[in-house]
Amino acid sequence: MAPTIFLLLAIFSIVESTVGEGGGLKLELIHHRLSLDNVSPMAAKSQIWPETSQFIVKIAIGTPPTKVHAILDTGSDLFWAQCRPCVKCYRQTNPIYDPSKSSTFQTLSCKSPQCHLWGSGAACSGTDTCKYGYGYGSGSTLGELATEKMAITSRSGATTSFLGVVFGCGHNNSGTFNANEMGLIGFGRGAVSFVSQIGPSVGGRKFSLCLMPYNTDPRISSSLSIGSGSEVKGPGVITAQLVRTSDQTSYSLTLKGISVEKTFVPYSTSGPPAKGNAILDTGTPPTLLPKELYGRLATEVRRHIPLKPIDDTLCYKGNLGNLVITLHFDGHVDLRLSTAQTFNKMPDGSFCFTAMGVDDKDALIGNSMMSNFLVGYDIDNMTVSFKPTDCTKIG
Ligand SMILES: *[C@@H]1O[C@H](CO)[C@@H](O)[C@H](O)[C@H]1NC(C)=O
Ligand SMILES: *[C@@H]1O[C@H](CO)[C@@H](O)[C@H](O)[C@H]1NC(C)=O
Repeated sequence: MAPTIFLLLAIFSIVESTVGEGGGLKLELIHHRLSLDNVSPMAAKSQIWPETSQFIVKIAIGTPPTKVHAILDTGSDLFWAQCRPCVKCYRQTNPIYDPSKSSTFQTLSCKSPQCHLWGSGAACSGTDTCKYGYGYGSGSTLGELATEKMAITSRSGATTSFLGVVFGCGHNNSGTFNANEMGLIGFGRGAVSFVSQIGPSVGGRKFSLCLMPYNTDPRISSSLSIGSGSEVKGPGVITAQLVRTSDQTSYSLTLKGISVEKTFVPYSTSGPPAKGNAILDTGTPPTLLPKELYGRLATEVRRHIPLKPIDDTLCYKGNLGNLVITLHFDGHVDLRLSTAQTFNKMPDGSFCFTAMGVDDKDALIGNSMMSNFLVGYDIDNMTVSFKPTDCTKIG
């Protein structure tokens, strides 16, 4: 099923103009840090997080173009943006995209193959337009699926345009989005994801990104590469085979356990972990672990840090030292994390652990723990590669 969909998209999504980039694209990736009163829905999954961070990419939609700043999310597929007329739009600093002013906007009818790319997500009832609905922890976006011209400006200054990209024109958007976030851009594995759509035109369905650690100066940006040239290779690269699960969107690996220094904490105390039990999600700041695993891990973290935690938390005031925490994935993929990745400095000066326990049997690796790795996602080859990198220096 998937390859058929992929072929359809390859035909519909046409590159209009490319200015010598060797096929691939490299664009700026911006880091937003937000305080609690205006967190995004992704972050709101974790209510105790006092501050949060998201990574933003800029894309121009329509003719003439409207600039959209969207949250980069490997945990979902659909690209959606706030769209006029608003049934309900949250406050947004930049003008809201108005399709009636764009000559390249086209709604999708229920009969169009693109309407069905999104599986059960799209619905056709009553009218002839293809509707979508997307829910998050504490918010939702509802609207219609449409096609539009999208333009990406590379760091070199060259602009590449894509025609007929499927996206969600969001008329009813709620949740606690920040006014600078105009939508969300899905980089999942699914057929409707932005990278699946434009990948075939730029050298393959693959991309790489380097996320800055939480406490990075917000003026420092990083890069997102899409297509050819985005491969992560060379000395020190660790490559993992992604696990195919029933979920067509996620980048899933099998997390066997987590070490605190030399103490191994197994994922489960009752047998081997389920295949594909951990997903990589750039749209969620903290790492979310099953409560029971988190409890065992927290005990080890407390045992290894020679400071008194603040109340019941894993927050500390003072010098944490060089605690090394290692994520052990299947296939001898061991990611060594330093305290820059496992503890965030809070506004009050304390350092808080970047993982938390949730009521779920699976794990989600959030964007803090993936920072300072150049991470290459390759959908065609079903691999993900990690290269330890100072992401504040790759500009
Ligand atoms: C907008 O979305 C909210 C949340 O899903 C829903 O409760 C409400 O009925 C929607 N409003 C309209 C006019 O469709
Ligand atoms: C991905 O797969 C293609 C075709 O199967 C192969 O030529 C290429 O070397 C692979 N790339 C990587 C980085 O493994």
